Amino acid sequence: MPETPSPTTNALLLSLACFMAVAGIYAIKHFLEDKITVNKNQATLDMVEELLPLAYDNDPLADTIAVTLSARGGAGDDVNAYRARLDGEPVGLVFSPVKASGYNGIMEIGMGIKYDGSITGVRILRHRETPGLGDNISQDNSDWIFSFNGRSLANAPKGHWTAIKDGGDFDQLSGATISSRAVIKAVEYALNYYETNKENLF
Ligand SMILES: Cc1cc2nc3c(=O)[nH]c(=O)nc-3n(C[C@H](O)[C@H](O)[C@H](O)COP(=O)(O)O)c2cc1C
Repeated sequence: MPETPSPTTNALLLSLACFMAVAGIYAIKHFLEDKITVNKNQATLDMVEELLPLAYDNDPLADTIAVTLSARGGAGDDVNAYRARLDGEPVGLVFSPVKASGYNGIMEIGMGIKYDGSITGVRILRHRETPGLGDNISQDNSDWIFSFNGRSLANAPKGHWTAIKDGGDFDQLSGATISSRAVIKAVEYALNYYETNKENLF
């Protein structure tokens, strides 16, 4: 008959099993955290590429600064400025997330701006606008958001940055003027911030 392990051996074996279980859990946790970070960084780089479809040779993730934008009034929100450069020269940047006050709450907007101050892309990253009405601000539901492409403070000066029904340049979505105005206002705010702070932003 095999010898029964001593209580000390049992205790040691149990401790070893516990140690291995904890180490395994930590290893899995680290692996998943690393994977989440890699995926998040890739998603950000994809967004920058989409919003700033220009040639650059730096890593915008490693060339990011934090700014404060009051696009929806108040004290302001923390916004990342992902900067793109070619041969060390500024190409443009992506602001994200620019926050706006929509019909149903806060919207988050990503916005690409070429160095000369023209918009290369705007996308709605997050929103809670009403399906079939305000949610048409999103690129997933209509082409409306693409109407900002190429616009700048030079070709749409102060007073033009509002809905057509308010005397401005930008179409309002039918039954969703509040959502439309919120996006237009936030985009104008971010452009003004860019022009005012251009030298410090790069
Ligand atoms: C249930 C409900 C949901 C609405 N959702 C939105 C919305 O998401 N965005 C928006 O701008 N207006 C929304 N509206 C409409 C606004 O109350 C308002 O009438 C509209 O923004 C004015 O735009 P219009 O001048 O194009 O009609 C909603 C209205 C109702 C009754």
